[in-house]
Amino acid sequence: MASSDVRKERQESFRRPKYVLLKPLCKCLMNLWVFIHSVIDCIIDLCFSFYYNDSKRTQIPTVKESLLMESAVSLAERIRNKEVSAEVVVQGFINRICEVNPLINSVVDERYEVALQEARDADTFLASTTLTVDELKLQKPFLGVPFSTKDSTAVKGMHHTLGLVSRRNVKATEDADVVILLKKAGGILVAVTNIPEYNLWCESRNNVYGQTLNPYNTTRTVGGSSGGEASIIAVSGSPMGIGTDIGGSIRMPAFYCGIFGHKPTTGLTPLKGLTKRTGLEETTMVTAGPLCRYAQDLLPLLKVLVGNNISQLQLEAEVSLNDIQFFYMEESGDLRSSSVSEEMRQALQRAVSHFQDLSKTPVQKVKFSGMRYSFKLWRYWMTREPFDFSKELADGKGTVSVWKELPKKLLGQSDFTFAAIMNLINRDILPQENPVWAESTTEHLLSEILGKLGDNGVLLYPSHPFPAVYHYSSLLRPFNFGYWAVFNVLKLPVTQVPMGLCKDGLPLGIQVVAAPYKDHLCIAVAKELQKAFGGWVPPFPV
Ligand SMILES: *[C@@H]1O[C@H](CO)[C@@H](O)[C@H](O)[C@H]1NC(C)=O
Ligand SMILES: *[C@@H]1O[C@H](CO)[C@@H](O)[C@H](O)[C@H]1NC(C)=O
Ligand SMILES: *[C@@H]1O[C@H](CO)[C@@H](O)[C@H](O)[C@H]1NC(C)=O
Repeated sequence: MASSDVRKERQESFRRPKYVLLKPLCKCLMNLWVFIHSVIDCIIDLCFSFYYNDSKRTQIPTVKESLLMESAVSLAERIRNKEVSAEVVVQGFINRICEVNPLINSVVDERYEVALQEARDADTFLASTTLTVDELKLQKPFLGVPFSTKDSTAVKGMHHTLGLVSRRNVKATEDADVVILLKKAGGILVAVTNIPEYNLWCESRNNVYGQTLNPYNTTRTVGGSSGGEASIIAVSGSPMGIGTDIGGSIRMPAFYCGIFGHKPTTGLTPLKGLTKRTGLEETTMVTAGPLCRYAQDLLPLLKVLVGNNISQLQLEAEVSLNDIQFFYMEESGDLRSSSVSEEMRQALQRAVSHFQDLSKTPVQKVKFSGMRYSFKLWRYWMTREPFDFSKELADGKGTVSVWKELPKKLLGQSDFTFAAIMNLINRDILPQENPVWAESTTEHLLSEILGKLGDNGVLLYPSHPFPAVYHYSSLLRPFNFGYWAVFNVLKLPVTQVPMGLCKDGLPLGIQVVAAPYKDHLCIAVAKELQKAFGGWVPPFPV
């Protein structure tokens, strides 16, 4: 029989009576599972809320200097125009870090004295330069503006522990390429911030520095891996930061901490110095990118971080929002992940309605069926990354075996967090994904999405099923992070946009996705959403 006959035969057999019931039955079982899953989610949240109910309230104190509330580009402009000195700005942010860091544990190492000296040098340079303000803006767009980055991004002389006890005393000997780029643009590095062990978990907790707390509610996580970054920026301890993102590490903490984060199209930012990378890695999902409180800072920061690769982007292009074709998706459809909560759906809906009014073409609801494999696809592509987690945990001195480490952990004798052990279990014990399936599914999903987005399309997508979760609760529902990770698999540019607070006072948000090299579309949409919905809402009284 020819293969088409076989197919026909199969199709006919599906139409026979005993199969007629199959589809509704599947649907029914699926709905039942979704319901059971929601009940489990409620129980988890209830248990955690009992546990955390008596924890004392921590209120982040209000900002005393109005300078600290300004965007990075506005600070840069005021410094260039000599309305304020770089020294005053840098000192202001240092004071703020000293005030708030004891409450949230974001900053893990600092170079305040050196930073102040660099600020004075910038002021001296400004006093004597013959460059015009416009030339300065072009050559040193962030002259005198402080910034921060994570412990895993090398900064000469700063701790570079990767959250590993064995590296407790390790300091970096040179700057990562992205740090060099931002310093060249005039930025002044003030502090480095907390991360999960080796950046691989969705909470910023490790056995070197402990746990970073969410400024909106200290019973919640800041996310990971750029969690220290996002939280110190959210409290106005730093006006801008450099994050890295291999599975949501910029967007997740930006979402949990209510700020903006952009994961650029993969392959544009230099990798040298990021989590021990040499810069020679050929294929990887990781990319560096900006974190900030104001949408207007995203584009100038991105320009700096992509260096010469800027020619691959159209960052100067005029974007007409009326001409963008908007799409949205309400759920990934991944049955292992939680349902998107009502408040998160409404946040997405508000953005959809806004663009419905603005855009010439109606906003289209779409469904990409491959999205339901988000987590599995990321899990497969992580096995193709050029590093070995068990070797990295041992910091190059042999490997960490899950069979030895798990019993040690249970006896309280392990140096590693439970998240790291879970990563080892996932890697070494659970069955692997099928490479042929994973690669073809990825290719299919990508072409499906690109087919819709084209040159001028934008996809609005939930950031996560719910706002910032309780500490440790992610261990019970690790699959939810597929909402971020799928875009690392697809290597698409994504901006995380804050969309106000939920009734519990935690940030809501959405992800704005475009086709490769269309980062400018994501950022233009983010700016519009900030204008319409207010963007960052400070986690302190103003
Ligand atoms: C938390 O405690 C307060 C008073 O101590 C009580 O009124 C409230 O119902 C408790 N909430 C939960 C979720 O247990
Ligand atoms: C933080 O969350 C806890 C537990 O859900 C809650 O009891 C508390 O009221 C929240 N604190 C603030 C400041 O909203
Ligand atoms: C451009 O991107 C590549 C990665 O594709 C990177 O290796 C290189 O360092 C980048 N160049 C600059 C100047 O940022």
